[in-house]
Amino acid sequence: MPEHSFDFDRYDRIRPIRWTGDALELLDQRKLPFAVEYLRCADSDAVAAAIRDLAVRGAPAIGIAAAWGVVLAARTAAAASGQQALAAVEPALQRLNAARPTAVNLAWALARMRRALAAAGVDWRQAVEREAQAIADEDLAANRRMGELGAGLIAPGSGVLTHCNTGSLATAGFGTALGVIRAGVAQGRIGKVFADETRPWMQGSRLTVWELQQDGIDATLIADAAASHLMKHGDIDWVVVGADRICANGDVANKIGTYQLAIAARYHGRKFMVAAPSSTVDMDTASGDLIEIEERDPGELLGVSGTRTVAEGIRAWNPVFDVTPAELIDAIVTEKGVVERPAPASMRAMFG
Ligand code: MRU
Repeated sequence: MPEHSFDFDRYDRIRPIRWTGDALELLDQRKLPFAVEYLRCADSDAVAAAIRDLAVRGAPAIGIAAAWGVVLAARTAAAASGQQALAAVEPALQRLNAARPTAVNLAWALARMRRALAAAGVDWRQAVEREAQAIADEDLAANRRMGELGAGLIAPGSGVLTHCNTGSLATAGFGTALGVIRAGVAQGRIGKVFADETRPWMQGSRLTVWELQQDGIDATLIADAAASHLMKHGDIDWVVVGADRICANGDVANKIGTYQLAIAARYHGRKFMVAAPSSTVDMDTASGDLIEIEERDPGELLGVSGTRTVAEGIRAWNPVFDVTPAELIDAIVTEKGVVERPAPASMRAMFG
């Protein structure tokens, strides 16, 4: 088989993050699918706010946006070296880091930007911009690679179910789990795509099915609660999801609802795949118990599009990620390769 078995661009047209040279433009995901508008961020605090408020979302996209946030922060620093600039921008980096806690790509990208600044000399302004661009470029390349690796695990004619939005909207392009699905559809391995709604923020119904429609990939939307029924009746072979943090033992934090999909998949004899770049692998966190799970405004559960649907005075709890234990995962796919049935030893062998 040729190294690239299909035309990547044909199935991948959306780009959520644009660097203009003096500002960052983010495709505002709060407004999709009915308005396609870019939000202009002219300083790093605007980027931090965009991450916190979900104008940009998805683990890799958060990391890339934060990297450009560092470039914006550095623009105002009067420094003769990278080390001096790093000291000047550190408070801005801390504010970026605090925007969201669960996706490790945010801290990973900031650590990489810190290292680039620390190593740079008088040309630190160019160095920091080059590093942000490299983070974005490497993400796109990783997604394309893992798309082919993941699709290779799927038998021709299979049905897949995906959760949340893991596509171009959540990355530099192509996507993680959605990249596997793009590649699988293009190669004729995937005959049917199902996407769930992903309550309460509706990444599935607002973003994923719209993104697939833009790229001409046929998909069927289901309610989150329909997943077990779908698996029982046999229309899907694989559940394919992304990740916000993958631990040293193979536990995976991802969008709330992922864990119950993994349980249902195992019960019904369906396979469960996690696709993520190695920038989502956190070998410093031993297990999923140690991950901080973000809790968001309970108001996300109390209404739809700003209209309240729940009686006044009702209490709600809104954790937005959960942890799927490694034992429920059949394959973790990264650009470095596939870890089947992840466990500490196989994770160490792949990620060091
Ligand atoms: O809260 P979100 O929308 O940022 O959560 C996104 C997810 O959970 C994705 O599945 C994950 O980041 C992987 S995206 C390639």
